Amino acid sequence: MNFKEKFKEGIISAKDFNREDIEYILKRANEMRDDKKYRDLLKGKILATLFFEPSTRTRLSFESAMIRLGGQIIGFHSGDVSSIKKGETLADTIRTVENYCDGIVIRHSLEGSALLAAKFSKVPVINAGSGSGEHPTQALLDLFTMVHEGLKLDGLNIGIMGDLKYGRTVHSLSILLSNFDVNIYFISPKELMLRNRDKDYLRQKEVKYKEIEKYRDILNVLDVLYVTRIQKERFADIEEYDRVKGFYIFTKDDLKETKDHFKLMHPLPRVDEISPEIDNSPKSIFFKQAYYGIPTRKAVLSELLSD
Ligand code: NCD
Repeated sequence: MNFKEKFKEGIISAKDFNREDIEYILKRANEMRDDKKYRDLLKGKILATLFFEPSTRTRLSFESAMIRLGGQIIGFHSGDVSSIKKGETLADTIRTVENYCDGIVIRHSLEGSALLAAKFSKVPVINAGSGSGEHPTQALLDLFTMVHEGLKLDGLNIGIMGDLKYGRTVHSLSILLSNFDVNIYFISPKELMLRNRDKDYLRQKEVKYKEIEKYRDILNVLDVLYVTRIQKERFADIEEYDRVKGFYIFTKDDLKETKDHFKLMHPLPRVDEISPEIDNSPKSIFFKQAYYGIPTRKAVLSELLSD
């Protein structure tokens, strides 16, 4: 089965990707960096972007990718302006919106939201963030970034630091990485470690990983450090957030301890986890990472929406 057939109902979880699927989409993303070549590919197609939660990069890069492929956009960027506010269910919203478009990109606070949307939709659904669950296209663009910034996925020593409990980008990234021969160091305060269900998945895939609380001891081992924001909005108890906030701030001194080819990544938005004084270092690639969302999402959209 080719990629298009396999994912015809959409992209819901990183767990649906095997190594071949990942390599295929990265290859397509690379081809799609050329803006001129595919500018009419999705002409006449409409993408609905339904963002019930805040977004800058994900929504705008999906929309930009769609427009660059010749397609058009409809949608909303806040739960407050859709009929959900009037009490409509997500299922009914999807059964309505599917009539107006060829594909749906959804971000919602419920972990099962994208899966539920896909069940009710006759057009493909792309998960652009399902609560603390997953964010599979972010993970695809993260891998695309690593490869294009000269890193090899097999043999990679990666640190993933921050909110590993609630961070959906971290979940999808570690799931995609489980298809490669990687060593993962999960770095977080005890309260924000990976949940058991996520660790069970990685163990079952025989991923080599360690959980640690301090990153400084392993900085000289890492090829890449993927930093994330503590997901304030997911904490039921704000005092719990206050206890863990500011747990780590990556600085100029930290950068000095890293290998020459080391790369610092972040899905953004950042709050205070990376000191801005190192933004211009060639090792800081988080704004390039935001750019790589365009070719990656062009690749995903072209697979799902082209005739
Ligand atoms: C992330 C998200 O929304 O999950 N951002 C993104 O999509 N690039 C990360 C975050 O909000 O911390």
